[in-house]
Amino acid sequence: MRFQGRIIRADNLKLMARLPEECCDLIYVDPPFCTGKEQTQGDGRHKFADYWPGGLQAYLEFLQPRLERMHRLLKPTGSLYVHLDWRAVHYVKVRLDEIFGADHFLNEIVWSYRTGGLSKRWFARKHDTILLYARRAGKHKFKVQRAGAFRTDGMNYDEQGRPYKQTRAGRLYFHPDGPALTDVWEIPFLSTVSLERTGYPTQKPEALLERIIQASSEPGDLVADFFCGSGTTPAVARRLGRRWLACDISAAAVRLTQSRVRQEKTLV
Ligand SMILES: C[S@@+](CC[C@H](N)C(=O)[O-])C[C@H]1O[C@@H](n2cnc3c(N)ncnc32)[C@H](O)[C@@H]1O
Repeated sequence: MRFQGRIIRADNLKLMARLPEECCDLIYVDPPFCTGKEQTQGDGRHKFADYWPGGLQAYLEFLQPRLERMHRLLKPTGSLYVHLDWRAVHYVKVRLDEIFGADHFLNEIVWSYRTGGLSKRWFARKHDTILLYARRAGKHKFKVQRAGAFRTDGMNYDEQGRPYKQTRAGRLYFHPDGPALTDVWEIPFLSTVSLERTGYPTQKPEALLERIIQASSEPGDLVADFFCGSGTTPAVARRLGRRWLACDISAAAVRLTQSRVRQEKTLV
C-alpha cells in the first residue's frame, strides 16, 4: 500500500477487513467512550452517537472485533494506542491483554488536562487514559521524548551551556533537551478560542498526537486512525512526514478531515 494519505468513509470494521495484515506501523484510535450521550459541541453542526442500548456489554462487543483486527494490521514493529476514559478503560484493558498478550502491554498513559467544571461530590475527573500495546514488545519502535524543564534547584550550566548538578563524585550532567517524558502528560484541552478548534465534538489537541507519532513511528511510516473524527491524527501525521490512513463513519467527519489535511503544511 504505497500512498501518502487516504481518508475513507466507512464502518471501520468493514474497511479493516479489506486491508492486508501487517500494513500499519502505528495505529491510534479514539473511539466513543461509552458515555451514553450524543456527543455534540458548539453550534451542534457536528455530532455522533455514543449510546449503547445494551450498555457496557454492547459497547465491548462493538469494540472487540475492531481491536482484534487492529492487532493483525500492525507490523511486528508496530504499536497501538487506544484512547479512553474512566468509563470503559479497565474493561478494554482486560480485552487488550487477551488480544495482544499481557506481555505486550507497554503503558497506561494519563493525559491530564484540568479544563472544565469541578464537582463538589468527588475529585474532579480531569484525565483520559491511553493504553499502549506493541505487536511484539521488544521489537517495537520507540523513541524517548523529552519536554519541560528539570527542577532548577542546584542546577548549574557549564561553558557550553550544558546543565549539570555538582555532586561529591563530580558533575552530573542532564540532557540538554530536558527530562524524558513519563506516562503522565500535562497537555491543556483545546480552549474555546483555540485556532485549532474545528467545532467537532471530542476533538483532541495536536500536541497529544505529536508525542504519540514522534515516539512510535518514523518519517515515511504508515499511521492509521480508524475513528478519525475531525482528522487530528492525519493532520499531524502529514505534517510530520508520515503516510496516513484515516476512516470515519460520519460524512461530516470525513469532510472536515479532508479540508484539514489539505490545509496542513508538510514539514518534513
Ligand atoms: C471520539 S471521536 C474521534 C475524535 C478525534 N480523535 C478527533 O481528534 O477529532 C470518535 C469518532 O468515531 C466515529 N465512529 C464511531 N463508530 C464508528 C465506526 N463503526 N466506524 C468508523 N468510525 C466510527 C464517530 O463518527 C466519531 O467521529
